[in-house]
Amino acid sequence: MTGPANDQSAADAGGQAPLELDTSKPNIARVYDFLLGGKDNFAADRVVGDQIKLVLPQVHLGVQAQRAVLRRAIRYLVVEADVRQLVDIGSGLPTAGNVHEVAHAIDPEVRVVYTDNDPVVLTHARALLASSLTTTVVDGDLLRPEELLEQPALRAMVDFDRPVGLLLCGILHYLDDKEDPGGIIARLMAQLPSGSHVFVHHLVKAGTPGEEDAEAALRKGIGRGTFRTPDQVAAFLAGLDLVPPGVVRVPDWHPDPDDRPSDDPVLNLAVAALARKP
Ligand SMILES: C[S@@+](CC[C@H](N)C(=O)[O-])C[C@H]1O[C@@H](n2cnc3c(N)ncnc32)[C@H](O)[C@@H]1O
Repeated sequence: MTGPANDQSAADAGGQAPLELDTSKPNIARVYDFLLGGKDNFAADRVVGDQIKLVLPQVHLGVQAQRAVLRRAIRYLVVEADVRQLVDIGSGLPTAGNVHEVAHAIDPEVRVVYTDNDPVVLTHARALLASSLTTTVVDGDLLRPEELLEQPALRAMVDFDRPVGLLLCGILHYLDDKEDPGGIIARLMAQLPSGSHVFVHHLVKAGTPGEEDAEAALRKGIGRGTFRTPDQVAAFLAGLDLVPPGVVRVPDWHPDPDDRPSDDPVLNLAVAALARKP
């Protein structure tokens, strides 16, 4: 995971012009990539990742569970909720089991829009998805929700008269309270028709050993990170219909029949929820 070859791959994604990167500063997407065992990260990201591993040695189980619940949410949206348009906000660096891969395994016609505000994520995603007719990548900031949904590339892919599935997986805990995560969800959903859904994965304060240290390590490393209570996460979804089982620990959200989740307390550090616009 070290050395110039790896750093070069992060800078030169897809043969495009290298980005102007400040590799001395850790970045959310690349720290997460490191925790997932990916290669698209730099030394500064690995330092923060190692600090998180110090307080949560089993953190890899948490990030793997995050990817797994995202896959289950996509399958639920396409199969059970009959949603054929997905907008993934804070999509992160491409990794195994990307949203479009999971959705297209069920229905190749599902439209998928990836959005992120990180230029490295956008470069990698565009390199991966260059030739897709059903998938696009849009530069968007969750803090400017109306502008994000107005992007021409997104409008070209998404029919706003049909239900949309918004994916907010592992992103809302990077918003401060003053940035009003619940208000941002409400503003996004206000633009979408009845039958649209929003999926949320959020790090929580629930009395788990190490949670305060993990939150502090995130804040120290990348300047952001707010663990909230499950009730606070539920409040973000006010006015929407919570899909059973509601706001629950990640392994408890629509587990697959063959799932044998670890009982490690690290899995108590995040909740998942899906809500439908009536
Ligand atoms: C931890 S990653 C999650 C990736 C993926 N959604 C998952 O759950 O596996 C969080 C992503 O959110 C992005 N992000 C953070 N703040 C954002 C914002 N205000 N607008 C758009 N993307 C943001 C980061 O760049 C990063 O790629």
